[in-house]
Amino acid sequence: MKAKANLLIVNARLATLAGYSEKPQRGSDFGNLRLVDNGAVAVAGDSILAVGPIEAVAREVDIGAAQVVDAGGRLVTPGLVDPHTHVVHSGSREREYNLRLQGTPYIEILKAGGGILNSVASTREASLTDLVAQTNKSLGRMLAFGVTTVEAKSGYGLDLATELKMLQAVQILNLIQQVTLVPTFMGAHAIPEEYKDKSDEFVDIVIQEMLPAIKDLALFCDVFCEDHVFSIEQSRTILRAAQDLGLGAKIHADELAPTGGAQLAAELGAVSADHLLCTDALGIEALANSNTVAVLLPGTSFNLMTGRYAPAREMLAAGVAIALSTDYNPGSCPTENLQLIMTLGCLKLGLTPAQVLAAVTINAAHALGLGSAIGSLEAGKQADLVIFDADNEAYIPYHFGINHSWMVVKSGCIVYQN
Ligand code: NIG
Ligand code: FE
Repeated sequence: MKAKANLLIVNARLATLAGYSEKPQRGSDFGNLRLVDNGAVAVAGDSILAVGPIEAVAREVDIGAAQVVDAGGRLVTPGLVDPHTHVVHSGSREREYNLRLQGTPYIEILKAGGGILNSVASTREASLTDLVAQTNKSLGRMLAFGVTTVEAKSGYGLDLATELKMLQAVQILNLIQQVTLVPTFMGAHAIPEEYKDKSDEFVDIVIQEMLPAIKDLALFCDVFCEDHVFSIEQSRTILRAAQDLGLGAKIHADELAPTGGAQLAAELGAVSADHLLCTDALGIEALANSNTVAVLLPGTSFNLMTGRYAPAREMLAAGVAIALSTDYNPGSCPTENLQLIMTLGCLKLGLTPAQVLAAVTINAAHALGLGSAIGSLEAGKQADLVIFDADNEAYIPYHFGINHSWMVVKSGCIVYQN
């Protein structure tokens, strides 16, 4: 007997991104959308049953009782994946935006006790309810942009109680709204004022006190490995301790200076190395020879007005697997709009529209260790998909700054329609 579909999308231009569940796209494979014209996707419950030309899908599954959505020739892609965000935070930092517009550098604001530490103060004060409410609003925006899976870091607590509160907010949000959140512990996001000039002591707190307490609430551990923040040695110590507890490693690497963060990510087998604006040839080579995905965040360069972007084309030529993300946070990149980041990926990183689409679907899934569950339209995968009001992938980054989503399906349910 044929399996029964309960949702059927027809008349679609499918960008399936199929065939890369084991390994991300890299080199000449990067941007291979595996397009199917006049395609269909059959869904049962929260999973994809069949994908392909309508005749083949109708042969394979029972579509008799399915709700039919006519995509009208529109582009259908996997649900977008945003693999690096600080979506959980309280308050906003437009006062510092004014300072930065007048020329004060981001790192100087942080060194003077503002920046991340400003958001730490407001997040420590916020109630769990308020934190959940503010984050929920952002997740609604992300879902409307077609984003169905979002990584969410802690790191605006820098003390155990607040780090726990942030990760509990993620846990609650996973129960009450539709976007899937992937929790990352980032207790080493900045050195709190209490430990100014005593960063080694703070590293001990992260390892001895925080990691054991949060280990069941997070899948990954991330560190801001940077001059004036956490050194390579401190980052290695924290991430090794996290790995010993079963967490995967991620690193904010080489954002402001070439510190060797990319090499550390490769050495540790980190699932991703993120930012990488200043990564040099050795860092690129290390990533190319590893399974670590380079998560590039061009919105951050744009908003910080550094004029410097990650060397994406060199990375691509060397064989590094590339994903893109918003880095949504209240300081360096206050936007939930991953479609805008796709535009910056083309204009500022020199990637093609097909490559940026791969970078926010299958490669972003791999940057979260989820390549076999999401990121492509294939039988057995989670039924997360976006119907864009566009008939080709270039139209999305080209017509920039707006929302192209026409319909978003999450775990088999229609959750947004425009
Ligand atoms: O990824 N670089 C460090 N952390 C964040 C910024 C967080 C903030 O400014 O609040 C980032 O850019
Ligand atoms: Fe970040």
